Amino acid sequence: MPIVTCVEDLRLLARKRVPRMFYDYADSGSWTETTYRANETDFAKIKLRQRVAVNMEDRTLASTMVGIPVAMPVALSPTGLTGMQHADGEILAARAAKKFGIPFTLSTMSICSIEDIATHTSAPFWFQLYMMRDRGFMERLIERARAAKCSALVLTLDLQILGQRHKDLRNGLSAPPKLTIPNIVNIATKPRWWTSMLRTRRHSFGNIVGHVQGVEDVSSLSSWTATQFDPKLDWDDVKWVRKLWGGKLILKGLMDPEDARLAADSGADALIVSNHGGRQLDGAPSSIEALPAIVDAVGSGTEVWVDGGIRSGQDVLKAIALGAHATMIGRPFLYGLGALGEEGVARCLEIIRNELDVTMALCGHRDIRTVSRDILLSGPFVPA
Ligand code: FNR
Repeated sequence: MPIVTCVEDLRLLARKRVPRMFYDYADSGSWTETTYRANETDFAKIKLRQRVAVNMEDRTLASTMVGIPVAMPVALSPTGLTGMQHADGEILAARAAKKFGIPFTLSTMSICSIEDIATHTSAPFWFQLYMMRDRGFMERLIERARAAKCSALVLTLDLQILGQRHKDLRNGLSAPPKLTIPNIVNIATKPRWWTSMLRTRRHSFGNIVGHVQGVEDVSSLSSWTATQFDPKLDWDDVKWVRKLWGGKLILKGLMDPEDARLAADSGADALIVSNHGGRQLDGAPSSIEALPAIVDAVGSGTEVWVDGGIRSGQDVLKAIALGAHATMIGRPFLYGLGALGEEGVARCLEIIRNELDVTMALCGHRDIRTVSRDILLSGPFVPA
C-alpha cells in the first residue's frame, strides 16, 4: 500500500491510475475554472484561533444531518460517473461511508443503479435527483428511491443548463469510453483500472439505460440525456417533488441569500450551499465565501450545509465555524476511489476525520456541536 497521508496523495495516485478522460472529468471545473480554484484556495484565507491549556480529552465529532445521526458532520456528495473512477465505484463508496458512519448520496447520473446500491450495501443511502423534462421518469425514479428505502432525497437546482468543461469536450467523455486509438493507448497504461472494469457489467448510466423506453445503448443514451435537464425548473416544481417524495428533502446548489430564503420557505429540511464544485457558473464566488450570508438569511429553521473545495478536516472545521450545520465532499472521495478503490475512500475519510478531530482540539473544543465563529480570527469571510 503506497504511503498516503493527505487527500492530495490520493489525488496524485488517482491521476496515475484512472484513464485521463475520467480523471479529467473529476478534476476540472467550467470554463476558466476560476470558481473551481477559489473553492479550494479561499479556505486557506481563513485563520483559526489557537488555544492552549484547555482540557482536550474525550472529544466527539458526532452530529446529525436532517435528524439522522452521523459520526462526523460530513457526507459524500452525489457525483456522476463514479463507477468510471473505479469499477462498481458507487457500491464501494457507499460501503466505505457506512464503515465511517456517514451518508452516501447516489447521483441520478451514476453507473451503479439505485437497485445495485440497495442490493450490495446495508445502510440506507440518499438519492440525488435532477429535474428532468420527462416527469414520468422522475416519478419512477422517486418510486425506485422509496422502494430502496433511501432516507433522504437531494434535489439539485443548479443544473438547469450545463456549464462547459473544456477537458470533457477535448477528451470526448462518454461511458463506456469510445474505443478510439488515443483512448485505447491511454487505458492500456492503467491496468488496475481496466482489469477491474472487465470484472463488472456496470459500464453505463445504471439508473437510465433499460429504464427509459428507447434508451438501450450509449448513443441513444447521450442524445436522450442531453435534452433532459429541464431549463424551466421553478419553485412550483420543487413543491411538486416535495409532495411526491414526502420524506426528508435537501435542496442543493444555493449560492444566493434570496434563493436560500425561498428554498427554506419551500419546506426543505436542509439546503446545501454549493456551486457544483465550480462546474457550473464560472465567476461565482467560492461556496465558503457565500456561506455566512446564507446562514444569516436562513435563520435556524432549516439546516444549512456546504460543499465545494473541502480537502481536509481543517476545511470542515472552518465551514462549521462559519455556521454550516454540516459539510459534504465530492472530489476527495473520488480521488480515494480512483487511487485505491474502497480502501482509498476509507483512507480519505480516516484522514479527514483525524484532521478534524485534532484541529478541533487545538482550537480548544471537545464537541463539534459547540464550535462557532469564535474559533476564527477576523479576516476574509468572517463576519465582524
Ligand atoms: C459532481 N457534482 C454533482 N452534483 C450533483 O448534484 N449531481 C451530480 O451528478 C454531480 N456530478 C458530479 C460529478 C463530479 C465528477 C464532480 C466533481 C461533482 C457536484 C458535487 O455533488 C459537489 O457539489 C462537488 O463535487 C463539491 O465540490 P468538491 O468537494 O468536489 O470540491
